Amino acid sequence: MKKLIVANWKMNPNSLKKAKKIFSETKKTASRLKNIKTVICPPFIYISNLKPARRQGGSQISNLKIGAQDLFWKDKGSYTGEISTAMLKNFGVKYVIVGHSERRKYQKETNAIVNKKTKIALENNLKVILCIGEKKRDSKRKYLSFVKEEITEGLRDIQLKYLKNLIIAYEPIWAIGERAKRADKPEDVFKMGIFIRKIILSVGGRKISKSVPILYGGSVDKTNSENFLKNGGIQGLLVGRSSLDFKRFKIILKKANTLI
Ligand code: PGA
Repeated sequence: MKKLIVANWKMNPNSLKKAKKIFSETKKTASRLKNIKTVICPPFIYISNLKPARRQGGSQISNLKIGAQDLFWKDKGSYTGEISTAMLKNFGVKYVIVGHSERRKYQKETNAIVNKKTKIALENNLKVILCIGEKKRDSKRKYLSFVKEEITEGLRDIQLKYLKNLIIAYEPIWAIGERAKRADKPEDVFKMGIFIRKIILSVGGRKISKSVPILYGGSVDKTNSENFLKNGGIQGLLVGRSSLDFKRFKIILKKANTLI
């Protein structure tokens, strides 16, 4: 399986000019790297200006795709400020991040909302990067049941045939963003990956549980990315801050490309 490296730009950068610069620099490198798939998830407002296609009307460069950071759980209607799956698809979006911990926190997204979003996106043939992860790693291992609930509730009542487009991003909240204590340890991510696959096995059966890519996210940078990919038992990375600095992100991409 090719490693999947996803850039989550969050609410950055603050101008289209800067967005275009980061995108074109990343594209230069990403389009050459044949052993990995790169997905860039910019803010909605920039999506129509960032084209992975080689030329106008051309198809997307197959190893570089555009993703969205969120979507709404209804197809159409009076929902001020929301963005639908159809809108995303019309702009060539292939991937969507659902249930990021920052949305769970600041937009009060519950597992039930995350489930509706996951469902509508998968039913409309988008690849869903479903984010899960505990707030803290307690010694009584309650975090395991927290993670389990996020997955089982997030995937509730979704037909198995749609799970082929599911990707799980394990992002322990304490390891994400500027206030993170540190990144997780690859050996702990490895164990969590096994745990996640067991849950997927109970939800979706053997075939899905074997094939679903698991990503790690949380303070990934150019110094630890390789270690996660080599020793974390994961199939890719979800990168926040380090994806906005294209020089650093290029290093992450190039290192990933050397591992098959
Ligand atoms: P970070 O963010 O790499 O800046 O820690 C990761 C994420 O929240 O997806």
